[in-house]
Amino acid sequence: MKHLIDILRAEHHLESNGYKALLECDDDSVVAYLHEQAREVAQGVFARGIFVRGLVELTNVCRNDCYYCGIRNSNTALERYMLTTEQVLQSCQQGYELGFRTFVLQGGELPRDKAQWLVELVSEIRQRWSDCAITLSLGEWPREVYVALRKAGADRYLLRHESHNAEHYAKLHPAEMSLENRLQCLTWLKELGYQVGTGIMTGSPWQSLDNIVEDIEFIERFKPQMIGLGPFVPQHDTPLGKFATGSAELTCRLYSIFRLMFPNALIPSTTALNTIDVKGRIKGIMAGANVVMPNLSPANVRGNYALYDGKAITNAEAAEGIEQLETQLSTIGYHIDWGRGDHKQCTIHNA
Ligand code: 5AD
Repeated sequence: MKHLIDILRAEHHLESNGYKALLECDDDSVVAYLHEQAREVAQGVFARGIFVRGLVELTNVCRNDCYYCGIRNSNTALERYMLTTEQVLQSCQQGYELGFRTFVLQGGELPRDKAQWLVELVSEIRQRWSDCAITLSLGEWPREVYVALRKAGADRYLLRHESHNAEHYAKLHPAEMSLENRLQCLTWLKELGYQVGTGIMTGSPWQSLDNIVEDIEFIERFKPQMIGLGPFVPQHDTPLGKFATGSAELTCRLYSIFRLMFPNALIPSTTALNTIDVKGRIKGIMAGANVVMPNLSPANVRGNYALYDGKAITNAEAAEGIEQLETQLSTIGYHIDWGRGDHKQCTIHNA
């Protein structure tokens, strides 16, 4: 098994059954070796710096109805909010003063007539903080909206594909949504010159290891600059609220596989991971993740951006907890890297 890990590190690629074997392996020493190799590779590229991204949760209003997500349109148990332009700019200002140089505007999928508001918002942020990267995580839009947002100054876009298996995708999403459209959006984003992030929830309902292998192989072909992976965490007001929580262990294993596949990728140790495991963030970094995304949203709306139950919303997850984050990172010999943290062109061939 260790031989497979050595091949993945050297060649950045395995056959399907190699990935499957790594996912199935129950030998702790092999998993420890996988994490160690991934950590070494991450340290080779990023030293021991961890990039921070300031997350602004624009809105929990959503036109979509994904079965797993707490802010799905049909969830009437949720108080909806939408930040004003002024609130968003204030959050960015606060983040900028703290040292953040990337803002991530994340939100539910707004009604289509809000596209112009989004474009103007991005444009304003671009003008005020020309030295910052702007990342969007706002779901599916027609191509022309992605064009306008890019022209307005957005640099990066996160859009998880959620599952590359059409049947599985259809079990997680209502009929109006399709894997095909999701992939189309990802292709457009890439063509338009965004740095693109994609990914999945690990342990989502009905997901098999074979499905994960399909996801790995899609990501291998798509070559995103960012890879977002977190465990599925049930939200009690959703149709999938009674399914089991995903595994931190499997999530970390995937961080390591992707780190060996793409040494330069930006891989966040996600909030969902930190929600299901108090040491999740550190474990993610020890498995090769190199980004964390503290929350810059106004404190009074944080509780309503409830994608899943128990979401970590205070302290180290919040920007005010940045000192705590520094301390936490220093215990493992890491530190915050305050740079914009753009994806470096890969120096290693990932054919
Ligand atoms: N558990 C974990 N992650 C979730 N997301 C949405 N709902 C959940 C959940 N219940 C993730 C999705 C989406 C991202 C914004 O949040 O993968 O892409």
